[in-house]
Amino acid sequence: MNPCKIIDLPKISDVRGNLTFIESMHHIPFKIERVYYLYDVPGDEERGGHAHKNLEQLIIAISGSFDITVDDGIESNTYSLRRPYYGLYIPSFIWRTMENFSTSSAALVLASKPYDESDYYRNYEDFIKSIKEK
Ligand code: TYD
Repeated sequence: MNPCKIIDLPKISDVRGNLTFIESMHHIPFKIERVYYLYDVPGDEERGGHAHKNLEQLIIAISGSFDITVDDGIESNTYSLRRPYYGLYIPSFIWRTMENFSTSSAALVLASKPYDESDYYRNYEDFIKSIKEK
């Protein structure tokens, strides 16, 4: 079963516009220890192409839209993110790729740990091998 899920974030709307907020351990199942964002991504470029041993993430199309394909080694699913009040929760051991970034789009990523290159699988075959060994 695909362990990724779309989280419907709170949205406060009034005549002044919309406001969305996210609290650790309340709206998302991890403590936020890092925030990063992808922007100015050319429409024909692909980002991601890796999996993590421990990291959990929430990815939000804070502006514009893009597609994320998630693969747990058994099945893959593609999500089109296009609203700032939806986040895609991605636990560890999920290979993800991001593509089809629209003009002026931005991907906000909330992460459960500081950056650590040793937490990455950057080779798909290594990722699949480690899933089989689990
Ligand atoms: P990369 O993992 O290739 O980005 P993406 O997930 O979009 O494919 O990261 C690009 C570079 O940025 C790479 O050298 C690692 C570095 N980086 C950091 O230094 N800190 C971070 O928090 C992140 C996400 C990446």
